[in-house]
This record gives sequence, C-alpha cells and structure tokens, in this order.
Amino acid sequence: MEPIIETHDLTRRFGEITAVDHVNLSIAPGEIFGLVGPDGAGKTTTLRMLCSLLDPSEGSARVAGHDVVREPQAVKDRIGYMAQKFGLYMDLSVQENMDFYADLFGIVGKKRTTLAAQLLRMTRMEPFRERLAGRLSGGMRQKLALMCTLLHRPQILFLDEPTNGVDPVSRRDFWAILYQLLKEGITILMTTAYLDEAERCNRVGLMHRGRLIRCDAPEILKQAAGANSMEGVFVKTVRAADAPEAP
Ligand SMILES: Nc1ncnc2c1ncn2[C@@H]1O[C@H](COP(=O)(O)OP(=O)(O)OP(=O)(O)O)[C@@H](O)[C@H]1O
Ligand SMILES: [Mg+2]
Repeated sequence: MEPIIETHDLTRRFGEITAVDHVNLSIAPGEIFGLVGPDGAGKTTTLRMLCSLLDPSEGSARVAGHDVVREPQAVKDRIGYMAQKFGLYMDLSVQENMDFYADLFGIVGKKRTTLAAQLLRMTRMEPFRERLAGRLSGGMRQKLALMCTLLHRPQILFLDEPTNGVDPVSRRDFWAILYQLLKEGITILMTTAYLDEAERCNRVGLMHRGRLIRCDAPEILKQAAGANSMEGVFVKTVRAADAPEAP
C-alpha cells in the first residue's frame, strides 16, 4: 500500500539548532503512529512541517499524496492538526467554538449541523454544548479541540500531546474516540508524553535530538531493548544515546 505520510531526510534548522535531523518516516493509511521523545526532541517541529505550517530546511515530505512545500493548501484540506496549545476561545461556548471553526473551514448548512451533532454525540459532549470553554474540565476541553479539528472531515489527524494533563478516565474516553476514528479509516499521527499511550499505537517512533533513533511496533521495540514496557524502552534507549561514545 502507498504510504499516506512519507518523509525523506526531513530536516529543520533554527539558527544553530537542528530541531529535526534527516528524519525518514513512512506511515500507512489507517495506521496510528506515536511519536515520543524527551522535551525538545523535535516532535512538534516535525508535525508542523507535515502540516505545511513550517518549511523544511532540507529534505521533503508528502502527505495524502501532496508535497508539503509545493502544495500546502491540498495538504491542509486533507489533514486536521490539533496543536499542543490548541486555540479555543475560553469566553465562547462549546457550540460557539465549533461554529467558529466551521466558519473557518467554510462548512455550512445541513452538512454543518449533521456533522456537529455527530461529533457531539461521539464525544458525549451534547450536554455541555452551552457551557463556556473556559469552564470545561481539561479532558472536555481536549475533546472540544478534537471536535473542532474534525469538522472538515480530514483523512489524517495530527495530534500534538492531545492528552497532556488530562486525568486517566478522560484519557480513556479520548482513546475510545480515537479508536472510533481509526475504524472509520482515519490515519493518526500523535505525539505523547504518556508511554502507556505509545503502547497502544501500531508503531512508535522514538525521537531524540532531532533524530528518529527507533521506529517499530511496540512489541518489537520492547524485545530489542530487553524491556517489558515502552517506558523501559524509552529510558534505556535515551540513556544509551546520551552515553559518551566509547573511545
Ligand atoms: N520557532 C523556533 N525558533 C527557534 N527554535 C525553535 C523553534 N521551534 C522549536 N525550536 C527548537 O527546536 C527544538 C525542537 O523543539 P520542538 O518543539 O519540536 O520539540 P518537542 O519534541 O515538541 O518538545 P516538547 O516535548 O517540549 O513539546 C528545541 O530545541 C526548540 O527550542
Ligand atoms: Mg512539542
């Protein structure tokens, strides 16, 4: 099957810093792929390039069949991006936030009403549609951000630490929604700081100092590292990468 996301030596520099360093990724349609790595590893920068929000310094990427530099609009039409700090309007209600994003994407009429109702049902947010975003719990806020991201029916979802700071019960709800979306055929690329979440992905990429130092199914990564959890893989691999090289 043709990959739906593909990068070749994708690189981004900010002055002296190489935030993303020759990353090669290939993600199949329908996959849920998790990007993990310590703070500053380059996860957000990778996502932003894949969403055509930031140009690579070197290398290339194709998303849903389109080049992220040459065809930014075609890419943006086919993806949903939930940023690490997604822009919700705290003094607007759930419904008003959704209306705002629907306007932004030019979604009108019956299509809009049907889709909004469907999303509210799926996320079980119907009872809260009049509540101000500023008064929602952290978990509900993330669900609202997800709904806003899904309004234009993207084929691919990019989620940057979507469950950060969310309690375990709400995290489970959030994952139930992600599984529902996968069943509908959406491809998901997410970053996460929770390694039990990485365990739920089909494949995991471990980023460190801009490089993709491991990329495989969780089971294979655990076997290779001799660890019984993704946390073990993470700690061992990052430590080994940081260890001074043998003379
Ligand atoms: N706009 C920018 N200007 C300068 N440096 C940047 C910019 N954006 C990111 N960086 C740097 O690039 C590196 C990678 O940052 P990035 O935000 O991609 O990491 P991350 O893996 O998402 O980290 P976190 O887990 O903290 O979200 C960091 O050193 C960061 O300081
Ligand atoms: Mg980040």
